[in-house]
Amino acid sequence: MTSYDIAFIGTGPEPENPVWGESAAMAYRHAAGYEELDNCDLVACSDLVGENARAFAAEFGIPDANTYEDYDEMLAAVEPDVVSVCTPVPTHAPIVIDCAESGHVDAIHCEKPMADTWEASREMATVCDEYDVLLTFNHQRRYGVPAGRIKQLLDDGEIGELQRLELAPGNFFDAGSHLVDLCSYFNDEHRAKWVMGQIDYREENVRYGVHNENQAFVQWRYENGVHAVAYAGFGDELLPCQIRVVGSEGVIELQHIEGPTVRVRRQGETEWRDADADGPDANIPGAVRSVVDALETGEESMLRAENALTVTEILFGAYESVRQRGRVDTPLEIDDNPIVSLVEAGEIVPEQTED
Ligand SMILES: NC(=O)c1ccc[n+]([C@@H]2O[C@H](COP(=O)([O-])OP(=O)(O)OC[C@H]3O[C@@H](n4cnc5c(N)ncnc54)[C@H](O)[C@@H]3O)[C@@H](O)[C@H]2O)c1
Repeated sequence: MTSYDIAFIGTGPEPENPVWGESAAMAYRHAAGYEELDNCDLVACSDLVGENARAFAAEFGIPDANTYEDYDEMLAAVEPDVVSVCTPVPTHAPIVIDCAESGHVDAIHCEKPMADTWEASREMATVCDEYDVLLTFNHQRRYGVPAGRIKQLLDDGEIGELQRLELAPGNFFDAGSHLVDLCSYFNDEHRAKWVMGQIDYREENVRYGVHNENQAFVQWRYENGVHAVAYAGFGDELLPCQIRVVGSEGVIELQHIEGPTVRVRRQGETEWRDADADGPDANIPGAVRSVVDALETGEESMLRAENALTVTEILFGAYESVRQRGRVDTPLEIDDNPIVSLVEAGEIVPEQTED
């Protein structure tokens, strides 16, 4: 068994009360995943805030001498095999590219969403390909019990042919990234053929360094004819579950407000059935394990950049549809983040919120 030296960029502050929020200190969650693996040694960490890096090192038994404020210094001194990148979204691409170009790294496991622009998302994938570096994104919900159960029900033909996916994320970019990724998983990684959307963005909502709208209504069609529709930012008013999976012979629902974790109803049945999917929804150890396994075996990881690009094309495609006031066909031929450009051009003016 090969053993791997793991390093972290962006440790986050010490999470006294871990919550999913603006500072989730995701590196702590990645680290807990690597710690479970016999073939991983946590060797170094870096954070712009030295105190954060030192607290992280103390927590995970990393020598104080291997804590850095400058990640380039860390890469040169430690030459890690795997780097977890857990910094704000606009920094993902430059950091991932620096890691790949350092020539020391075999795999990079980066937090989601991929990047703040469509160009940066493509570029990080291209550079990692050039340097033969495995690049993956932490869409860890694929490894959660509920998502695995839904995929199994679909693969077993429980609801016939997949026809439509409906989803209700809190916002389309940050939270939507996870749910659109699950749709990719359920629909066998097919790319979108077109995307059409509208947003309302009246109150500034910058999450992890990127503007996120307040409400969005997005529709897209995959290459294989499956349709999807997202109602973002509406709570449970339009869709009382997180994802509804509609097939030719039945329906599956994830996290219905009144139902079990996953429920299924076949055509002709009057009652919903509990699909027995209680268990963690977010599985970061599972995601981390899959990345290390992919490195070890050379097999493809479900979390690979190619799959993340499929998701990101839908996210930015929706925003491009807002700018174009029409349907956007793929491949998406833009470089920027249309929401950011529209805000910078003064065409959308969200009201500033107080800190
Ligand atoms: N997978 C998930 O479910 C999930 C949940 C929450 C957040 N996230 C993502 O995780 C990422 C990090 O979020 P978080 O909540 O852990 O952030 P955080 O604020 O807790 O930690 C980020 C750390 O990065 C450091 N940093 C910023 N720029 C840096 C640089 N150039 N070099 C080194 N360190 C730098 C900051 O000092 C900070 O300590 C974001 O991309 C976010 O979207 C994912």
